[in-house]
Amino acid sequence: MSTNKIKHIGVFTSGGDSPGMNAALYAIAKSAEAKGIKISGFRKGYEGLIDGDLIPLKSHELKKITQKGGTILKTARSKRFPELEGRKKALQTLKANNIDALIAIGGDGTFKGLLAFSEICGIPFIGIPGTIDNDIFGADYTLGFDSAVNTAIENIDKIKDTAESHNRVFIVEVMGRDSGYIAIHSGLMVGADSILIPESGKDFIYLLDKVKNYDSEDAFLVVVSEGDELGAELVSSKIKEVNPNVDLRITKLGHVQRGGNPSALDRMLGIRLGVAAVKTLLQGKKNVMVGILNNQLHLTPFEEVVKQHQVDNELYELLELFGK
Ligand code: F6P
Repeated sequence: MSTNKIKHIGVFTSGGDSPGMNAALYAIAKSAEAKGIKISGFRKGYEGLIDGDLIPLKSHELKKITQKGGTILKTARSKRFPELEGRKKALQTLKANNIDALIAIGGDGTFKGLLAFSEICGIPFIGIPGTIDNDIFGADYTLGFDSAVNTAIENIDKIKDTAESHNRVFIVEVMGRDSGYIAIHSGLMVGADSILIPESGKDFIYLLDKVKNYDSEDAFLVVVSEGDELGAELVSSKIKEVNPNVDLRITKLGHVQRGGNPSALDRMLGIRLGVAAVKTLLQGKKNVMVGILNNQLHLTPFEEVVKQHQVDNELYELLELFGK
C-alpha cells in the first residue's frame, strides 16, 4: 500500500487495558485528521475486528477522555483470533470497510496476533506497547506501567502505616504476569524489606535470611510479583516455618493497579506513541512497533517484539543491594 493511498485507518485496543490508552487514541485521531485520513475504532480488540464492530473516532470527542483510565474502545482477550477462521473473518471486515492500515495498542498477545495476521493480510500494521506489565522488548516503558506503579505505591504506603502500627509482616502481591517490573519498582519505592520477582532465584534466599532474625519490633514488608514461582501463600508458609512467631497478613492488590487516571508520564507516552504510529504508517513502514528507547522513538519489527523481555542488569543490582 503506497502511503498516499492510506485514506482510512482502523485502530483497536487489545489484551489488558492500561492507563494511557485513551490518550493514544486521541493522538492517533488528531494526527490522522490533520492528514485528512479517516479513523475508525474496532471495539473489544480482535473481537471487534472479527465481528465488524467499529465506530468512527473523532479527535474533538476523544480529547475529553484523554485523562481517563481504561479504554473507551473496550478490550478483550480473543479466543477466536488465534484460530485461522477468526483471522479470515477479520480480513473480510477490513476489506468490507475499506481499511487501508491498522494500529493496535496492546501487549505481548496483541503483537503475536498481528504477526499471525500479517501472514494473510497485506495492509500495514503498526503496534503501540500498552500493558501495565512493562514486558515488551523495544520499549523502555509500556503505556500504563508508570500509572500502575504509582497506584501500587499509593496503596502499599497505606498498608505500611498499619503494618508498622502492629509490627506485622505484610506480604503484598502486585501484578505483572511473568514480569517483575511492577514489583521491583513499587518495592524499591516503598522501602520493602524484600522483593520477590519471577526472574530472580536469589531473592527468596535473601528473604529467608532476613526474616529469620526479624524480632517483631517493626514492620517487615515483602512485595511479591504475582508471577513469582512461590506466590504469596507459599511465601507466607515458608516465613512461618523459619520464624513461627510472626504476625503475618497478605494483601493482593489486584486489578486496582489497572485502573485510575493515567500519570503525566503515561499521558505523554500515549500522545507521543499515537502520533508516531500515524507518522510511521505515512512513511510507508509496516509491521513494526513504535516505542521509546532512551527517550528516542524506536521502531522494532514484530518478530523482535514477541521475544522474551528481560529485566536489565542495573535493576538486578538494585534488587540485590536493597533486598539483602
Ligand atoms: O497483562 C496485564 C495484567 O494485568 C497482568 O498483570 C495480569 O496477570 C493480567 O493482566 C490479569 O488479566 P485479567 O484482567 O484477564 O484477569
